[in-house]
Amino acid sequence: MTYDEIYQDVQKRLSEYRFTHSIGVAKKAKELAKIYGVDEEVAEKVGIAHDLAKELSDTEMLNYANSNNIEIDEIEKQQPDLLHGKIAADIAKKEYGFNEDMQNAIKWHTTGRANMSKLEKIIYIADKTEENRKGDRFDLEKSRELSKQDLDKTIIFLIDEFIIYGIKNERIIHPCSVSARNYLLFTKNHK
Ligand SMILES: [Fe+2]
Ligand SMILES: [Fe+2]
Repeated sequence: MTYDEIYQDVQKRLSEYRFTHSIGVAKKAKELAKIYGVDEEVAEKVGIAHDLAKELSDTEMLNYANSNNIEIDEIEKQQPDLLHGKIAADIAKKEYGFNEDMQNAIKWHTTGRANMSKLEKIIYIADKTEENRKGDRFDLEKSRELSKQDLDKTIIFLIDEFIIYGIKNERIIHPCSVSARNYLLFTKNHK
């Protein structure tokens, strides 16, 4: 599918607010792809599609996962919203023909994971730093600056901020985020 076709399909699935965020992610992903030598069109397509399942209800998410062989872990059982990445990846595979790397970038955009591909890193970062993002959970400007210099440092920075926020606000810290951080620190120290 072309970018425009995907754009139109995603638009039908999302509110204006969420779709504006998705356009921001597509734009930021394209910019990062250019800096870090990733196919810009691929990054843009994944960016626009990454949250396509975000506005399904908890019940719809659980039903979709159950009827499409998507594994639900203990944390997702408590917080079905976390499934929106896995579900969007499945839909993007079936409806848009996304390849495995593109599917993984969608699947892991919320938590990150160990050993991410460059495309996965770009989508993870674009989701958190796109121009429409607001909020005070972390230093947005610093993360935007860092994103132009080093993908790994940006991810470590973001995860550190989320962990600190999670501790202060009694939130669950997803083990995949901890794995992502440990992996990056480990490889950085053993280069
Ligand atoms: Fe998301
Ligand atoms: Fe998002």
